[in-house]
Amino acid sequence: MRAKPPACQTLSFSIRQARGDEINSCAALYERVGNATFTWRLKNWFKAADFLRFAKEESVFVAEANAQILGILSLYRPESFVHCLYVDLPAQGLGVGNALIEHAAKEARGPLSLKVDEPNKRAMAFYEARGFKRRESGEDHGIKWALLKRA
Ligand SMILES: CC(C)(COP(=O)(O)OP(=O)(O)OC[C@H]1O[C@@H](n2cnc3c(N)ncnc32)[C@H](O)[C@@H]1OP(=O)(O)O)[C@@H](O)C(=O)NCCC(=O)NCCS
Repeated sequence: MRAKPPACQTLSFSIRQARGDEINSCAALYERVGNATFTWRLKNWFKAADFLRFAKEESVFVAEANAQILGILSLYRPESFVHCLYVDLPAQGLGVGNALIEHAAKEARGPLSLKVDEPNKRAMAFYEARGFKRRESGEDHGIKWALLKRA
């Protein structure tokens, strides 16, 4: 018989569209997680104000548990393009990112695409494990990126 995983490795949450009064919290999460993760970018590269601008044109989904936002995804529907996917630091590795991306796949009209910085090995492994393949590559401010798409 398989041992039950410890309680800290399971998490119950729901995915839904962000409410208007939650967008500021989503923007703060974007800034916090982005700046903590993208150490190869300039300091304070991620700004909440940028997310607020994206949110005007994109659909924002949240993963929520006990009235707390654990992760966010923004989808630019005309291109089925996942612009932002950020899971708060203590909630990473518990299935939140996976649930958000699969929710976006159901919401989108076509196959999902997204951009990843090449130094973001963890995110790259996450997307490749979920069937995303490299389609294009480029460079921005000296940092290589890849455009990934899932059929
Ligand atoms: C990349 C990210 C969205 C993944 O979301 P997540 O909720 O942490 O991931 P999940 O728990 O759903 O999925 C786990 C998978 O991610 C990877 N992963 C998640 N946590 C990890 C950890 N602590 N260490 C190593 N790999 C990890 C594993 O490859 C794992 O794959 P598997 O399910 O095939 O074993 C999330 O870690 C994140 O927000 N990172 C910082 C911001 C970022 O880089 N966003 C992407 C920009 S393109």
